Amino acid sequence: MQNIFDDLIAYQKTVADRSILDLFENDKRAGGFTAEAGGFVFDYSKTNMDERARELLLGLLETQGVAAKRDAMFSGQPINETEGRAVLHVALRDLDREILVEGVNVVAEVRATLDRMEAFAEDLRAGRYTGQGGKITDIVNIGIGGSDLGPAMATIAMAPFHDGPRCHFVSNVDGAHIADVLKGLNPQTTLVIVASKTFTTIETMTNAETARAWMAKDVADPAKQFAALSTSADKTSAFGIDASRVFGFEDWVGGRYSMWGPIGLSLMIAMGADNFRAFLKGAADMDAHFISADWAENLPALLALTGIWHNQICGYTTRAVLPYEQRLARLPAYLQQLEMESNGKRVSMDGGDLPYHSGPVVWGEPGTNGQHAFYQLIHQGTRVIPCEFLVGLRGFEPDLAHQHLLLVANCLAQSEALMVGRSLAEATQIMRSKGLEGDECDRQARHRVFPGNRPSTTLVYDQLTPHVLGGIVALYEHRVFVEGAILGINSYDQWGVELGKELALALSPVLEGAAEGAGKDPSTLSLAARFKAANA
Ligand code: F6P
Repeated sequence: MQNIFDDLIAYQKTVADRSILDLFENDKRAGGFTAEAGGFVFDYSKTNMDERARELLLGLLETQGVAAKRDAMFSGQPINETEGRAVLHVALRDLDREILVEGVNVVAEVRATLDRMEAFAEDLRAGRYTGQGGKITDIVNIGIGGSDLGPAMATIAMAPFHDGPRCHFVSNVDGAHIADVLKGLNPQTTLVIVASKTFTTIETMTNAETARAWMAKDVADPAKQFAALSTSADKTSAFGIDASRVFGFEDWVGGRYSMWGPIGLSLMIAMGADNFRAFLKGAADMDAHFISADWAENLPALLALTGIWHNQICGYTTRAVLPYEQRLARLPAYLQQLEMESNGKRVSMDGGDLPYHSGPVVWGEPGTNGQHAFYQLIHQGTRVIPCEFLVGLRGFEPDLAHQHLLLVANCLAQSEALMVGRSLAEATQIMRSKGLEGDECDRQARHRVFPGNRPSTTLVYDQLTPHVLGGIVALYEHRVFVEGAILGINSYDQWGVELGKELALALSPVLEGAAEGAGKDPSTLSLAARFKAANA
């Protein structure tokens, strides 16, 4: 691997300064660097990757044994080695297959749980399951990280299909979050879903207690208006939630990969079981493509190779995800956890130091809003930021088709502007046409130069249906898998979040004044003292 990596770095140096636009002198460039499958089009022609670079990158898939690793994941091998677990979120959506974990077909259990979720969701939507005050009008999903970001993102994305009760999401331990959400709700017609894989996460358990106390003021038996999504039946039962409203899953579902099963219950309640099944099918179709398509046509692989090219080879440290789709407003936040918690690792599988950089910083906002906020830096800042555009060809507002056209025009214009830029000569011409001359013309022109030659990719789909959303999320999940497999890291653990949790637990008594904070550094102690003084 090191050889191909070195070859790629050496090759990139020889082509770093060339013009991406010039690559289009080969008239096969646009089609040759576009892949299509299952209704998705991935255009990576506006990057500095050429055939030689792509060949080397595809070689990484071979030397790193990515196909064998992929097959190990799909067949339930314990590829999450640091936690000794299989990684089988794909089993939550591939409902027709048999997948054995320690000799047991786990798909049978998945199907049974899905059936129970559907029965509950449809009972609730139809008013057969009610709150003390009648039909459930509001759902409050209490969870954090993977127990929040997926359903929260998808519930916004699926607004055109939302015909169930209103859905709210509480994640932050900041009491402001739950206070603001509960303020407008009627406890007698609210269902609280406590979503936590472990059922120990302090934020979630604290918010769950707060919600129970809120409900207890108006509802005789609050536990009847609670449901739980967790791997721990013991803990959900200790919290007092009846087993009929507990939807379990296994530890082979990682938190950030869990929205396909019980953690997706709020989404299912929002849009109904049939739409949820279409969402699962979209992901299953992407799984099938990932398993069967040649690497050169394989969307997750190509997305991953573009990521490796930009981050580890070209040295661009961040990537912007820019959905031209208002309803994907939370996709960047969702992908931050998916990508950064998965591939933000500094140690290889064998425990050695990673010889290259880990995954990039992922960030973004929907277009066109981002254009009026941070695109200035993307176009004229000193660092290159690869941009990943997503756009649907059709919206859901037929009366507003002209707005959708404007949206798409903006999306295409941005990737064009990033690549083509504006030269000093063109900028000078514009300034001259405004009557400027000499040094002042030159000075003003220089501010209006766009260096261009900035890479971007565009993912196009027809319309953001449940099926398409499932495909997009699975596409990114597998992209993360491929990047992690190439780097030789474990994409499925998250030890990096543990230290802060432990220290927060130890600091609580210091803030309460019950402990002195022996061994704490002076900065931390001084900040803690300010808290104590303000709350004395
Ligand atoms: O702290 C990180 C994390 O463990 C995530 O990986 C996970 O999605 C989140 O916390 C929530 O965990 P749980 O679902 O167990 O409450």
